[in-house]
Amino acid sequence: MSNLTFGIIKPDAVRAGKQGAIIQKILDAGFNIRGMKLIHQTVKQAEGFYAVHKERPFFGELTEFMSSGPCVVLALEKEGAVKAWRDLMGATNPAEAAEGTLRKEFATSIGENAVHGSDSEENAAIEIAYFFSKLELV
Ligand code: RTP
Ligand code: MG
Repeated sequence: MSNLTFGIIKPDAVRAGKQGAIIQKILDAGFNIRGMKLIHQTVKQAEGFYAVHKERPFFGELTEFMSSGPCVVLALEKEGAVKAWRDLMGATNPAEAAEGTLRKEFATSIGENAVHGSDSEENAAIEIAYFFSKLELV
């Protein structure tokens, strides 16, 4: 799974109609999209996905936001995919995100920051398996 990572186009970006623009940038950056679907998570699903953050003060806000509307989940393939995808996303806080990154262009705040990306190969495998069955990966 070392060339795979997991991404989400978060509800803020889908509400703003930016999912197409973001997918185009993903393709332009040389990622191969191996899995993609539109989902609307329940609060419970979002809590399960972000369980590592359950002690953090923003956990309630985060899981409420992530279940507030549809989002696009992605299995992305590229050499060094985890780092390449986080580089394309930019810093968590859009105020600190570099020019040319997705969060610089599409995020509105540290909480509503347009995209998610796995932070390690191990978590990428776990997160892909959380949202995709084997049959859904091409
Ligand atoms: P992500 O997991 O979504 O790819 O983001 P990340 O690695 O850049 O940041 P992380 O520390 O894992 O935080 C997960 C998400 O929680 C929200 N957050 N809100 N209000 C706050 O201070 C705060 N801090 C983090 C963001 O949506 C962040 O992406
Ligand atoms: Mg994270």
